[in-house]
Formats: sequence, structure tokens, C-alpha cells
Amino acid sequence: MSVLRTDSSPALRSVIVGTGSSLPEQVVTNAALTGRVDTSDEWIVQRTGIRQRHIAAADETTSVLGTRAARAALADAGLGAQDIDLVICATSTPDHTFPATATQIQAALGIHQGAAFDLQAVCAGFVFAVSTADKFLTTGAARRALVIGAETFSRIVDWEDRTTCVLFGDGAGAVVLEARDDADGRGVLCASLRSDGRHREKLYVDGGPGSTGTTGRLRMEGREVFRFAVGQVTDVIADVFAQAGVTAADLDWFVPHQANRRIIEASADKLGIARDKIVLTVDRHGNTSAASIPLALDVARRDGRLRAGDLVMIEAIGGGFSWGAALIRW
Ligand code: ACO
Repeated sequence: MSVLRTDSSPALRSVIVGTGSSLPEQVVTNAALTGRVDTSDEWIVQRTGIRQRHIAAADETTSVLGTRAARAALADAGLGAQDIDLVICATSTPDHTFPATATQIQAALGIHQGAAFDLQAVCAGFVFAVSTADKFLTTGAARRALVIGAETFSRIVDWEDRTTCVLFGDGAGAVVLEARDDADGRGVLCASLRSDGRHREKLYVDGGPGSTGTTGRLRMEGREVFRFAVGQVTDVIADVFAQAGVTAADLDWFVPHQANRRIIEASADKLGIARDKIVLTVDRHGNTSAASIPLALDVARRDGRLRAGDLVMIEAIGGGFSWGAALIRW
């Protein structure tokens, strides 16, 4: 890709011009899980806020869900395959070790130009992917990007482990980002990304192509993840507030990774973000990892909450640990 921007170019901003999402048809309620592991609807709702999740059918792979979400986002933007020159898919559950799921989505959509690649930052993947796409767009290296979060965590959870299997669901969400000349202050304003690999053992998958040669299963120390999630995420949020020169009071919407209602509300309280500014979908979707934020964005945009000009914060933390936040003027 060539860099088109010159020093005399006006500042470019990455503006979200379309959103889309896709959920598997099969809905699994908490009650249905009680037949599988020793749990209860009451325990799951009280500890996590989750009431149901969508689970993919055998032929619904991550690329299938991602393609549906991307197609919906393109339609929403009024754009076609010829308009996209960058595809980034944030996922920890690729269809195959390679090729990248993003290239499969690219092919399914009939996009034959530009670059496509996967990005792996687990639950923080979508925030990392938006920030990455923003760098391509604001340097002129690409004009329009499809940024997708797509997951089938049902394929990597241990369905015998009640401490984890009740938490996750499948789904995909996508946004189209377009490079525009300083579009009325709209677009991605700033982002802050962090990782600290010393926490690997607290949330990981116990297999992989380079170690066991198997896919492996998700393992988590739930309490430790909870503690870190509420305690640590403040640094990236404070950083984006400082970069943009705004405070929690200026936010219109807080769209966090949907892991757990208690984590989300504790984080919002700590940051002084009013609870009625939180977009919450964890009750219906469960934790869909990298897909949860674009899914929530699509829900809030289509039900009329998200409007042009709104100040939106996306924020996530996940395995690694990796965490990040971004501020977007919608
Ligand atoms: N049903 C019933 N009982 C259960 C279940 C279940 N599904 N799971 C655990 N329990 C039991 C435990 O065995 C334990 O029993 P014991 O006291 O007899 O030993 C009891 O419930 C309490 O277990 P804790 O783990 O202490 O429960 P806690 O209040 O910490 O809640 C939870 C567990 C919900 C996992 C919480 O720690 C949490 O939300 N952690 C964050 C997890 C998370 O969000 N991870 C994803 C973020 S990163 C990413 O998205 C990939």
C-alpha cells in the first residue's frame, strides 16, 4: 500500500460510516445450561448479569459470522466490495491456524484489492483493531477499512467446567471506517493500548499449533481476572481522557467489552461514568470476546441511542493481559 498523504494534506480522521452484526440463531438460556453443568440461572445472573448467549451451529464458523456482520456494515454504509482496501478481523477463534480469517471474509465479500489480516488481542482485539485501522487511514495508507470482531468461543470453552462455560457466547460485529478530511471533529479521536504478558496464567488457552498441536481449552482464574479488570483498566481510560482533553462528564456513551455486568458497573462507578450512559448487551450475548464491542455498537446505533456527534468510549481488557480504550466522536 502506498502512503498518499503529503505534508500539505489536511488532517485525516477515521469516521465510522456503517455498523453491522451477526448472531447465531441458536439461543442457549441459563436454564438450558443447568442440564449440562452444576449451575443455576440465579447464580449466573447474580454473578455476571448473563441470561442467555447465542451458540454457533456446526457450519457457522468465525469467518461465516464475520462475513455476515461485515456485509451488514457495508450495506449500512451504502458501500460495496470495490470501496474497501483494508480488512482487519480481531479474533482468537480463527477458522484455521492459517490463512487469516480476514482473508476468508475478504474473499467471501468479493474484495480483491488492499490488505487483510487478523489481529489477536483476545477480548481487547476490537479496540486494538480500531486503533490499528486508524493508523492506516490517518496516514493515507488506506481509504476505507472493514474492522470486524468475530468469535466462536463455544469451540474453545471446556463444556465440563462450570466456572467458565457459562460466561461465553458466539457472534460478530463490524464497522466501516472511512478516512475523511477532518470531518467536523468526527472520527476516532485517540486510543491507548497496553499489554503485560506476565499475567498469562490467569487467562489462557492450554493448547496451540506451536506447543501441543491441538486447539486447547480456555482456562481462567476468574477472581484474579475480575480484580485486574476493575483495578487496571483505569490507566488507559485516564490516558484517552487526557489526550482528548475531556472528562467522564463529557461522554455520551460508554461501550465496554461485555464480559460481566459487575465488572462493567464497578469500572463505570470508579470512573464517574453515569450508569445510564453504559451500553449493556452482556445479558443477551454473554461474553463474545472481540465481537462484544462492535455487537454493542450496532445494537445502540440501530435502536437510536448512538447519534452523529456523540462522544463514545470503547474499552476492553482480555487475555495477556491486553487492554485498551479509544474515544470516538460518532
Ligand atoms: N454455577 C454455580 N456455582 C459456581 C459456578 C457456576 N457456573 N462457577 C463457580 N461456582 C462456584 C465456585 O465453585 C465457588 O464455590 P465454592 O465457594 O464452593 O468453592 C463459588 O461459586 C464462588 O466462586 P468464585 O469464583 O469465587 O465466584 P466469583 O464471585 O468470583 O464469580 C466469576 C466468578 C463470575 C467468574 C467472576 O470471578 C468473574 O466475573 N470474573 C471475571 C471473569 C471474566 O469476566 N472473564 C472474562 C474477561 S476477559 C475475557 O473476556 C476473555
